[in-house]
Amino acid sequence: MISINGLSKKFNDHTVFSNIDLNVDTGEVITLVGPSGTGKTTLLRCLNFLEYADKGTVKIDDVQIHCDQKKEKEIIRLRRKTAMVFQNYNLFKNKTVIENVMEGLVYVQKISKKEARVIAEAEIDKVGLFEKANNYPHQLSGGQQQRIAIARSLALKPKVLLLDEPTSSLDPERSREVLNVIKLVASTGMTMILATHEMEFARQVSSRVVFMENGEIVEAGHPEQIFEAPQKQRTREFINKFRDPISA
Ligand SMILES: Nc1ncnc2c1ncn2[C@@H]1O[C@H](COP(=O)(O)OP(=O)(O)O)[C@@H](O)[C@H]1O
Ligand SMILES: [Mg+2]
Repeated sequence: MISINGLSKKFNDHTVFSNIDLNVDTGEVITLVGPSGTGKTTLLRCLNFLEYADKGTVKIDDVQIHCDQKKEKEIIRLRRKTAMVFQNYNLFKNKTVIENVMEGLVYVQKISKKEARVIAEAEIDKVGLFEKANNYPHQLSGGQQQRIAIARSLALKPKVLLLDEPTSSLDPERSREVLNVIKLVASTGMTMILATHEMEFARQVSSRVVFMENGEIVEAGHPEQIFEAPQKQRTREFINKFRDPISA
C-alpha cells in the first residue's frame, strides 16, 4: 500500500532524515517510536506532502511521486489517499462537530451537504459521540475533540491514516479513550502509520514498530522483537528508558 524509498529531508543545513526506506502492506499498523526531534513528525508530513522531502519516492496505492519532480496534480491525488490526525486536533473552532466532519467532504470531495451529513453522522457515531454532533469543539474534552478529528479523517475514506502523537496533549484517562478508538479503527483493517510515545499501546496495536533515532530507522520489527529482543543497543536503551523511567 505504501512504499517509501530513499526519502531524505533537510531544513536548511540540518538533515532531519536521510535515505528512509519503508514498505507498508494494506492493513498494517506501523508505529514510529523514538526520541523527540528524531524526525517522526516530519516523516509523516512528507508522506502526504504537507512538507516536501528533497529526495526519494513516496508511493501510496497507485500514486507514486519522485520528490525532486513535484507534479502538483499527482500530489493532490496522493494527498487524497491519506488523512492525517494531528497532535492538537486542528478542529475549526467556529464550526460545530458535524460541520467539522462534513467540511472536507463538501469542499474537497464535492459531495452534497445532504450526503455529507449522513456520512459524518455515521463516523461521529462510530467514535461514540453522536450526541455531541451539534456542539462546538470548546464544549468537548480534549479526548473527545481528538475522537472527532479521527471521525473527520475517516469520513474522507482514506487508504491510509497518518496519526502524529494523537494522545500527547491528553491526560492518561483521555488518552485511553482515544487509544481505544484507534484500536477499533485498526481492527477494521485500516492501514495506519502512527507516531507515538505510548509504548504499551504501540506494543498492542502494531503490526510493526519502527524505532527511529537521529533521522534514521535504527530497527523495525514485530512488537515482540522490538520490546523483548531488540537487536540494536540503541533500541534496547530506548525501550529500557520506558520500562524504568526513573533510573533512566
Ligand atoms: N519547519 C521546520 N523548520 C526547521 N526545522 C524543523 C522544522 N520542523 C522540524 N524541524 C526540525 O527537524 C527535526 C525533527 O523534528 P520532528 O520531525 O518534529 O521530530 P519528532 O516528531 O520526532 O519529534 C528537529 O530537529 C526539528 O527541530
Ligand atoms: Mg513529533
